[in-house]
Formats: sequence, C-alpha cells, structure tokens
Amino acid sequence: MRGVTGGLMADFQLWPGLTRQPPDALLALIGLYAADPRPGKIDLGVGVYKDEAGQTPIFAAVKAAEAQLLSGQVTKAYVGPEGDIGFFRALTPMVFGADIPAERIAGLQTTGGTGALRMGAELIARVNGAARVYAGAPTWANHPPIFGAARLALAEYRHIDLSTQMLSVEAMLAALGKGAPGDVVLLHGCCHNPTGADLAPDDWDAIGGLCADRGLLPFIDLAYQGLGDGLEQDAAGVRIMARHCPEMLVAYSCDKNFGLYRERVGALFLLAATADDAGLAQTNLLSLARANWSMPPDHGAAVTRIILESEELTARWRDELEEVRLRIAAMRAGLAALDPALAFLTAQKGMFSTLDLTPDQIRSLREDHAVYMAGSGRINIAGLVPGNLQAFTRALAAVR
Ligand code: LMR
Repeated sequence: MRGVTGGLMADFQLWPGLTRQPPDALLALIGLYAADPRPGKIDLGVGVYKDEAGQTPIFAAVKAAEAQLLSGQVTKAYVGPEGDIGFFRALTPMVFGADIPAERIAGLQTTGGTGALRMGAELIARVNGAARVYAGAPTWANHPPIFGAARLALAEYRHIDLSTQMLSVEAMLAALGKGAPGDVVLLHGCCHNPTGADLAPDDWDAIGGLCADRGLLPFIDLAYQGLGDGLEQDAAGVRIMARHCPEMLVAYSCDKNFGLYRERVGALFLLAATADDAGLAQTNLLSLARANWSMPPDHGAAVTRIILESEELTARWRDELEEVRLRIAAMRAGLAALDPALAFLTAQKGMFSTLDLTPDQIRSLREDHAVYMAGSGRINIAGLVPGNLQAFTRALAAVR
C-alpha cells in the first residue's frame, strides 16, 4: 500500500488497537436532559448551582473583578508553572487558617480541583508508587479514575449506610486501621460528594489521630468551601487534620464557591513537616505542572485573586456565597417538610445527597417523570427550586 507521499506504508495501525471507552455517565446526563422536550423536566445531575430562576449566574463580585482585570491587564505573557502566586497566597489562609507556618505549605494553582487531585496523585506515585489510596464507598465518581490514571492502587472504606443514611466513623476507622505507612486516605473536606454526610469535628479528630499513628497521608478534596456551614466552618476538617498530621495534601476547587466552573480554577496545597521538605516538594510540583500543562490558564485565578485582595469585593463575594448556601439549605428543608422520609436531608450539607434508589427507580424517574439524577441516586439539591419541590417528591413517591 502507498501512503499520501507515494512511499510504501508499513501495514501497521495503532488506533484500531484502542478499547472503546464509555462516555462519562454523569456528563452524558447533560445531553440527555437538554434533549428532553418535556416542560417540567428537573435536572439534578451534574453539580452546578442554579438560582431560583433555574440559571447558573455569574457572581457579581466575579463580574466586577473581571472588569478590573480586562481594563488593567497589560500582557498575556506566561505566568509560570505555579500559576498566579497571588491567588495561591490569598487562598492559603482561607484553607489553613492562621496557625500553620506558611513555610510548611507548598503548592500551586492547578487546572481545577481535578488538576489538583491528579497532580497530588502523580506526586504520591513519584515518591511511593506502592501506596494504596483509601477512598470512600461511595466517593466522587471521578476519584477512582484520577488515582488509577496515576497508577495508584485503590482500597475502600465504608462510611455510610444509604438505607439509614447513618454515617459510620467506626467502619471508617476499622478500614483505615488496616492501612500501611505511606498509604493515602482520601477525604472530603466538606459537603461530601455524593452523600452530603459530613464528618463532625470529633470524627476528624479520631481520623487525624489514626492517620498520625499509622503514618497515613490525608488527601483532602475541598471543593465546596462555603456551601456547607460557612467558609470557616467548612475548613475545620483540614485544620484539625493539619494539627494531627505533619504531612498532608489538599485539592481545592473554586468551581462552586466562586461559580467559575468552566474557567478551571483550583489549587494543590501540600503540608510538609519542615520548610526544607516543603521546598523540596515544591520543586517536584513545578516539574509535574510543566510536564502536565506547563502553565495553568490564568483568567479565573486572576479574577479570584482580585476578589480576595479587595475587601469590598471579598465582602460582596461572601454575601453572594452565603445566598447560595442558604438557598441550598432551604431546598433541603423544603424537601424534608414535604416528605418525612427525606428528613435526613436537613442534617446533610452542600449540593449533594444520595437517595437509596434502585437503577429501575432512577430510570423510571428519568423516563416517566423527567427527573434526571446520577445513576448512583445522587441528587444535586441546588438544581431544585421552590416551584418544583412538590413535583419532585411526587415523582419520588410514584416510583417507591
Ligand atoms: C459533580 O460531581 O457533579 C461535579 O463535581 C462535576 C464533575 O466534574 O463531576
């Protein structure tokens, strides 16, 4: 056979050897929902906040910061593999508070929380490829692929019984008690995705003590700070763990709390025992960034920095975030008021909870009632508005 340049082609092709991959089940819901012509359809799929009008608004503080950025920006030259370092510095006290010496904290801007998780996973693989990553059952559906892509082995810990919605810290401790030094414990900082069932300060204390005793590395995914109990309260878990453990990773996302989803703004924080260790780790993070994306996109992080460096914009952003938080809590209360079987929702936090439904019930909700939710039974509470709470609880009653 001859190729386009007329030369002889070897009979060898790579791409037919690939294995077909299924589309991401959660992201596929976006298309299914969009294609549904039914007027009363309800979207409780992907974790995106919606206001009472069903819109995902841009925060006014973000718009104001963007205006400043556009008028003041004089160059689009590269920023470097660490991204916007002012952004990272402004975010650090929000996450760790004032007690941890800054020189023990390394890190950088990443492409969203996913980029932070992937980079943390690659750093772990670089230093300890034999580490097992203990992830909750259930956890965010993208956690296992991210750690798997870094070739780390996964192990499970059970933390909730969905039929009773009871959290079991004892079960968690029992599973983690089998961890070996250097193994990783993946935790949700607040607003657990997908269950909304958060750890109480005493639980964090117990897990922090166990991690310190057994030499386990906590890796906290903090993607919803401010959507649970408030900005400070939602960082309590990170701060308790940092008191127990000399080393830790935190993957941070600004998707939800700044409403910057598509701008892909995140950060990876690394806590080290000493300033020297932090400096050493930082050189590794920079080299991983260079090999992954070279430099992260700038816009969203610059916007976040402008907000956090301005008292006025920070106040405006905090007010808007509080509105988001309260609206989600109100939807939780509304569901509980309509259906006593949903009373547990008021004790859970953030966008998500997971209903104990069968695949058939979930399919029937979608096909017969135009209610879209993840195949796991996870619902995005922020997708509900007062006008469709009743339709949702009726649909639920109809399939149960
Ligand atoms: C979600 O869990 O719905 C969000 O974090 C969006 C995503 O990327 O899965």
